[in-house]
Order: sequence, then C-alpha cells, then structure tokens
Amino acid sequence: MPAADPHVHGARVSRVRGHLADAGLDALLVTHLPNLTYLTGLQASAGCVLVTARGLRLVVDFRYAEAGRAAVHGLGGGASLEVAARSLDEAVAARLRQAECRRLGIEAAYLSVKRLDWLRGALGEGETEIVSTERLVERERLVKGPEEIAALREGGRRLSTVARNLGPLVRAGRTEREIAADIDHAVRLAGFERSAFETIVASGPRSALPHARPECRVLGAGDPVVLDFGGVYDGYCVDLTRTVSVGAPEPGVRRLHEAVFQAQQAALAAVRPGVTATAVDQAAREALAGHGLADAFGHGTGHGLGLEVHEEPRVGRPLSGQTAETLAPGMVFTVEPGVYVAGVGGVRIEDDILVTADGYELLTDAPRSLLVV
Ligand code: GLY
Ligand code: MN
Ligand code: MN
Repeated sequence: MPAADPHVHGARVSRVRGHLADAGLDALLVTHLPNLTYLTGLQASAGCVLVTARGLRLVVDFRYAEAGRAAVHGLGGGASLEVAARSLDEAVAARLRQAECRRLGIEAAYLSVKRLDWLRGALGEGETEIVSTERLVERERLVKGPEEIAALREGGRRLSTVARNLGPLVRAGRTEREIAADIDHAVRLAGFERSAFETIVASGPRSALPHARPECRVLGAGDPVVLDFGGVYDGYCVDLTRTVSVGAPEPGVRRLHEAVFQAQQAALAAVRPGVTATAVDQAAREALAGHGLADAFGHGTGHGLGLEVHEEPRVGRPLSGQTAETLAPGMVFTVEPGVYVAGVGGVRIEDDILVTADGYELLTDAPRSLLVV
C-alpha cells in the first residue's frame, strides 16, 4: 500500500472533518482499523486516530512508531503522532483533556462497552459529552478514488488469472484442504499480500453449504465443487467464486448452474448509477424464482469491496429501518448469486464490478460456464 499522500489521504481527512462539523463534534475518535488505514495509509493491528477541526493525531504503540512517523509525515500539516507510553486510550484521554473537547464522536460499531466505560470515567462526567456516530468515515469509503480503483482493477485482473488456472488443481482423489492450500499458494504467487478470507472449497453434498470450510473430504466423480477465494492487493480486497464439476455433472447440477448464470446476468444488467443496490439483488432473485429456486438463494447478491472484503454497499434485500444505497460511479461490489439444494448440491458464481457512468466494468473475468475437469 502506498504511503500517505496529502492529496489523497489529506483530502479524505478534510471530507471527514466536514461530517464532524455537520454533527457538531469537536473530535472524532476513529477506532475501526480499516478507517484508520483509509485516513492515514497506515496498516496496523492496533492504533487509533483523533480527528479534530484542524488536526489529526495518530496514536500507535511502540511496534508502529516508525510506520506511524512515515504516515504523519506523508499527511503533512496538522498531522501528528503519539507513540503511547501506556495504553492507546490513556494517550487519547490525555489529549482530549488538554484540548478541552466538549463533544467527542465515537464509532459506535467499533468501540467496546468496556473501552467506552473507561473513556467516560477518564474524561469526567459533564466535561466531555461522548456522542455515538455511525459511518462518518465509511460513507467516504463507499465511492472509490482513482488510486483505489487502480488497486482493485489490478487485483481483479490477477485474481482472474488464478481462476483461469483452477482446472488442474481440482481432481478426483484430492481433498478439499489440499485444493484450498494450492489456491492460497496461487493467490500469493499471483502477487497478493495475502488471502482476503479463508478459501472455500466445498465439494459434493458439502457444496450445498454456502460458507463451508475446507474439510478432508476426497473429491469423487460427479462432484460439484464451489471454489471461493480472494486476495488483498495493495491493501484492497477482491473476491471470486467459480463452481466446477469433477467429470460429467449430474443434470440437476447443470440446471442449477444455468439458473445461477442467468441470475448473475440479470443482476449485472440491472447495474447502473441511480438504481438501488436492492434492485440489483431483486433482479437476481426474480431470475432464480423463475427457475423455482427462490428458496434456495438465502444470502444477499453481493457486498462492497475495498479495504475490507465485506463493506458497503450491501447488495441484498431491504432491511427494515434502512434506506438502500443508490448506486453511483466508483462503487465496487461483488455480484454472487448462489443456490444451495440439499441432496443435489450448490452452485455460486461471483464476480467483482465497478459502477461506471453508464453501467459497470467487470473487474474479474474468467469463464463462467460450468467447468468440467
Ligand atoms: N467468501 C466470502 C464471500 O464471497 O463473500
Ligand atoms: Mn463475496
Ligand atoms: Mn467470495
């Protein structure tokens, strides 16, 4: 991942500052690590950021002192680093007391009750009001910038190459775990820094489990095999699924595959700016209902991709009390309908797309027909 850049990361911080002002906050404590990475470029397993009207304080522990220094240097004016002598939260509380912060926003989804209780105690009743916030950084992450799109495009291209070379890995007599290990190896060899999640290899009856973990099951003739894998490239996650058949598929599996293929085509055809993510999901759902498979499709059609493998926009059925996201150019998400029928098997086809001004661009591209190996 490239170092922090005032034109990229500094501009992100400025936009988040605008949301602080709208919410009447003096400061925002960012504790969700992907948000920290988004604002500072730093990839760390611990740390937090305090964003104020004019400054940004990155707080890390000793392990990230050097990387933290490079990050604040790259961010330019107004950014400073604190290497916490004790806990991160003690450093944050001391800073907030010094700054006489009256209203502090916290990321409600990413601060434990224990840490919140501690902060309340440390800041003193009545001195600092702690305000729950949601999505002050995430709403900026929803539409990708040019440098993010470049990473996702290159990640998609590389993951597609891995997908095109799956055939020789999937053979009767091999176990799901052996194949998963080979896919993980191929992902690394393709230049990814790591897998984006635990690779799924689900064969035979286990293909009907949408999120199966690879087991010691040995593949046999006629097995459908769902292969779902992802990589992190330049900090950005891409995600792809293909379903293959070991030898000639059962007619039932071929029918499922054809239905899922049509559902993916229908969902893709619905993608353009101005439509809701829910409408894309609905298009896949209607296509599968046309095949009598409405009940076999129990998950959403897709999810956003970026610094996290599952992020906004959510491409699924409407949730009560939430407005569906309206698609805009620069959004990146998966389109991954699947059907799961006990006694027959499961099929999923997953690709990644970028919403463009007049439709979408496929970021992943490998043959989608049922591969027979
Ligand atoms: N295996 C994660 C996903 O496809 O969403
Ligand atoms: Mn996915
Ligand atoms: Mn996947």
